[in-house]
Amino acid sequence: MFKAGTASVRSLTYASMPGSRSMSFSSGTIIYAGSAKIFSLNEIEKATNNFNSSSILGEGGFGLVYKGDLNDGREVAVKILKRDDQHGDHDFFAESEMLSCLHHRNLVKLIGICTEKETRCLVYELVPNGSVESHLHGVDKETEPLDWNARMKIALGAARGLAYLHEDCNPCVIHRDFKSSNILLEHDFVPKVSDFGLARTTLNEGNKPISTHVIGTFGYVAPEYAMTGHLLVKSDVYSYGVVLLELLSGRKPVDLSQPPGQENLVAWARPLLKSKEGLQKIIDPFMKDSVSIDTIVKVAAIASMCVQSEVTQRPFMGEVVQALTLSATEPCFSLVINLVENQGSTTVIISNAHKGQEFESLGLLVYRGQKFQPNSH
Ligand SMILES: Nc1ncnc2c1ncn2[C@@H]1O[C@H](COP(=O)(O)OP(=O)(O)OP(=O)(O)O)[C@@H](O)[C@H]1O
Ligand SMILES: [Mg+2]
Repeated sequence: MFKAGTASVRSLTYASMPGSRSMSFSSGTIIYAGSAKIFSLNEIEKATNNFNSSSILGEGGFGLVYKGDLNDGREVAVKILKRDDQHGDHDFFAESEMLSCLHHRNLVKLIGICTEKETRCLVYELVPNGSVESHLHGVDKETEPLDWNARMKIALGAARGLAYLHEDCNPCVIHRDFKSSNILLEHDFVPKVSDFGLARTTLNEGNKPISTHVIGTFGYVAPEYAMTGHLLVKSDVYSYGVVLLELLSGRKPVDLSQPPGQENLVAWARPLLKSKEGLQKIIDPFMKDSVSIDTIVKVAAIASMCVQSEVTQRPFMGEVVQALTLSATEPCFSLVINLVENQGSTTVIISNAHKGQEFESLGLLVYRGQKFQPNSH
């Protein structure tokens, strides 16, 4: 259960943030002091046309999600939490409290919540254009496949959303279930990261990583998190790397219909990321001719660093944002990611040659420079 002790401490932290309108109510031991609007059940029923089945957007681990229309004309997504879910209340309050205080262009905005009778629901802004998952592997794949530019826009926006959670929030926030179905899309492919129901603030009072039971989605969970349950921002970085590989390859993280040895995307792709020849095998055939191998190499180098088994070898999300931004904007000779070939191996050097100096923070990436094994031989 969500105990009053920890809940109220966090609530106070958030309520004291500048600009947050605090509101509180108590239900047994639960104290809520977020900034989201409290909806009545009646308002939710009206918005969803009495939970009409024609309004269902889909169903996830927490329950059904309905499209709704508010009185003021806003369109919303209403996520109804399953009442038989053991973690329902906990996740509900964690998510609502957290989201109501977090604002970023690349995060789905929580508009309000409803906690009447047996109903627990979250009311989000409606993000109208499906998810990265639906565009890569599902219903939107045929009608609106993602080209390279859309994929890079998504990669950068989602990285910014995560970097905001990790580096701009205090205490910082770990998503814990970052995956392609939790990146929703606007019509112009601006990505919005959703579902913070599994996220937690990262440090307990002793500044130790939170150790808890492992929650996440098969194929996206970092090895150290799966094995020890130790929760680190770098575990999100691993999941981000898996999504980047998904964007590069168009493949699912786990796909049992693939030939033997190719079912697990990370295991299959990791060695291939180290050579141009390997990258030719990874790149989504849909994009193959529309993007240069040099451009792919840069993004693949970032993905490769993110999915390192060793936590300390993974970059921080802020570094990923910088590397992606610069790799997209800098001309070839002054790219943030340079490949230095030496005696058959290639080292990735991340630097800002444009300004004739290395980035302080990107210096960290330099020592992580991946040794690219001899390409094509
Ligand atoms: N804010 C939103 N705007 C538009 N559609 C949404 C919104 N939130 C969720 N959806 C859609 O509702 C459906 C169910 O989403 P939900 O988040 O419950 O499941 P999921 O992401 O597939 O899995 P998980 O429960 O593990 O997050 C998905 O199709 C999702 O794209
Ligand atoms: Mg989701």
